[in-house]
This record gives sequence, structure tokens and C-alpha cells, in this order.
Amino acid sequence: MGQATLSAKNAKLSILSWSDEARHTALATFERGGLCAFKTETVYGLGADATNPAAVARVFEAKGRPSFNPLISHVATKEMAQSHGELNEDAQKLATEFWPGPLTLVVPRKESSTLSELACAGLKTVALRIPNARIRELLNEFGKPVAAPSANRSGHISPVTAQHVQEDLEGRIDLILDDGPCEMGLESTVVSCFDGEVTLLRPGIILKEELENILQKPVLSPTQKSGEKAPVSPGLLKSHYAPNASLRLNAECPIDGEAYLAFGPLPSPFSPDKTPLLNLSKSGDIIEAAANLYSHLRKLDAMGVNRIAVAPIHQEGLGAAINDRLMRAAAPRD
Ligand code: TXA
Ligand code: MG
Repeated sequence: MGQATLSAKNAKLSILSWSDEARHTALATFERGGLCAFKTETVYGLGADATNPAAVARVFEAKGRPSFNPLISHVATKEMAQSHGELNEDAQKLATEFWPGPLTLVVPRKESSTLSELACAGLKTVALRIPNARIRELLNEFGKPVAAPSANRSGHISPVTAQHVQEDLEGRIDLILDDGPCEMGLESTVVSCFDGEVTLLRPGIILKEELENILQKPVLSPTQKSGEKAPVSPGLLKSHYAPNASLRLNAECPIDGEAYLAFGPLPSPFSPDKTPLLNLSKSGDIIEAAANLYSHLRKLDAMGVNRIAVAPIHQEGLGAAINDRLMRAAAPRD
């Protein structure tokens, strides 16, 4: 895969008002791994095929995020949600009451789920939501989950009109499906449901009291979870996948006993037959590297390697997010 096909940068932006034709164009955009912003009842989302790691990498690139955080996978039906996540009794109750609507459920990811590792930031959990907007028709037709964070550049405010999206992301995405202003203008409430506990991870439109009313039990705040100090922001260290192997970063060349996670051309001298080797991107494409990051770390773990030397990765574009992730993985463990 070459740079030109991978990057949405300098993409010509189409803005289409909602119509059958616009829906078909959006569908084709998702199918070829492109980026399409769409209206939900909360804020405009920046969508990509959640099962396509390169498409998800492009979302991070377009937002200019300095780190990877797990994204919400938007689905059309509860059945679709259940083919990717394990909805326990609490999750079922909340889904029945609030879906479609501004509630995101973080639940254990099913073994059989086809979601990309990058959409879930390598976690064993998945964030699912059925939006209450016309995009549901498209999700139904597409038949696969669409990963979508808010459609703004990192650090900017969330967009509630197509024009906001255009101002922030023109030249970085392919399409905006304009369906008028969002009704709510505030992101969905995010709760996790597993191990018999329900935890409020991000306050939003649906209030804690409303959740407790339906569940007839207390909803925990992140710091209460299992009595330990869990991170308030799910982007933080503990919620991330950490490989079993230890990592040595900026390694021009592996030494004896190390596996090599390469990026771009291999160093010479180098004997690939002696060293377990995976390449994030042979051509040095940073989007391809981001798309491969979590799955390559998992594969090296599965090979049973103890130490991984990681090639230097430049800081430009998605490089910063990849390095952020690698530094967390390389940091001393508790
Ligand atoms: O209203 C919304 O929720 C909008 C619209 C577009 O649907 N989407 C949105 O997505 O705000 P995003 O990606 O910006 O926010 C996702 C939130 C983040 O706080 C993220 O850390 C959390 O959900 N999250 C996602 N997956 C998670 C997981 N597996 N574990 C814990 N938190 C997770
Ligand atoms: Mg946001």
C-alpha cells in the first residue's frame, strides 16, 4: 500500500446534504476505507470502517491526535453490538432503555469480533453505541461498525454542524454528510459494564441518576471501581494494552535475544532468520505503521519473545502517537 492510497491528507472534501445518493456515496467511502463525517444526535462524528485498521489510522491522522485512545464503534442494532461485545444483564437493561441514544457501553470484546485492534486501542473491551439519527440507516446498510470520535482536530471543540466540521477538517477527510445541526451538542455518556459493576467513565447527556434508576443499583465513579484508583480518563496508562515482552525503543539494530519490530528498510548487517521480525511498514508509511502497531505487538507476544527492540520512528504526523504508545509500553510496570 503506497502513501497516496493510505493518507486522506489533501483529500478533496465533498459536502453532501442527506439524500439517497449521498448515502450511497458515504457507503462507498466507508467501503474503500475513506473518512466520512456524519451527524449524530450528540455531535458530528468522524467515521471510518472500524474493522479496517488503515481506515482507523486515518481517523487519528486527520484529528492530529498525539496519542491513540479507544474509539466508539457505532452500530445499527443491538444484534450488531452483540456480535462484537458481551452485553451482560446490566448492559442489556441499559441498551433496552437508552438505545438508540446518547449512551456508549464499554463491554468485554468478543473473541470473534472483527473490530480492528486500533479501534479498541488494543484493549479487550469495546465501546458500542447506537446513535439516534439517520446515520443508522447507513450503518444498517454497511453492516459493519463505524468507528467515530467527534469530528474535530485534537484539542478543538466538538462540532455540531457540518460547517464546523468543514472549518476544522477540510483537506483531511473525504466527505461530510450534512444533516443539519445536532440536537444535543454534548457527547454521549460512557459507562462500562463488566464484573458485575457499572462505572461512569464519561459524564454526558444521560445522567448517573437515570442509569441508577434503570439498574436499581449504584453506578460507580471511576475512582470507586473495585476500590482501586482507576484512571479517570480512559486514555491513561492502565487502560492500555501492554505487551508481556519488554521494549527497547529507538533501536537501530536488535542485539542477541531480542526480536525486532522494524519500520522501513532493515538495518544492515541483519540476519532475519536468527531474529523474530515484524515490520510496521516496509515502505516506511506511518499510517500503515499505526494500523499494524497493536496487532504486531500481540503477534510478537504470541511468539513468546521476551524482549523487543523497536526501530526509531519519526515524530511527524501519526509518528507522535505511535511513539507515545510505545513509550507507555516500554515504561516500568507495576
Ligand atoms: O457522542 C459521542 O459519543 C460522539 C459521537 C460521534 O458518537 N463520539 C465520541 O467519541 O465522543 P470519542 O472517541 O471522542 O470518545 C470515546 C470515549 C473516550 O472517552 C474513550 O476514551 C472512551 O469513549 N472509550 C472508548 N473505548 C473505551 C474502552 N474500551 N474502555 C474505556 N473507555 C473507552
Ligand atoms: Mg472529542
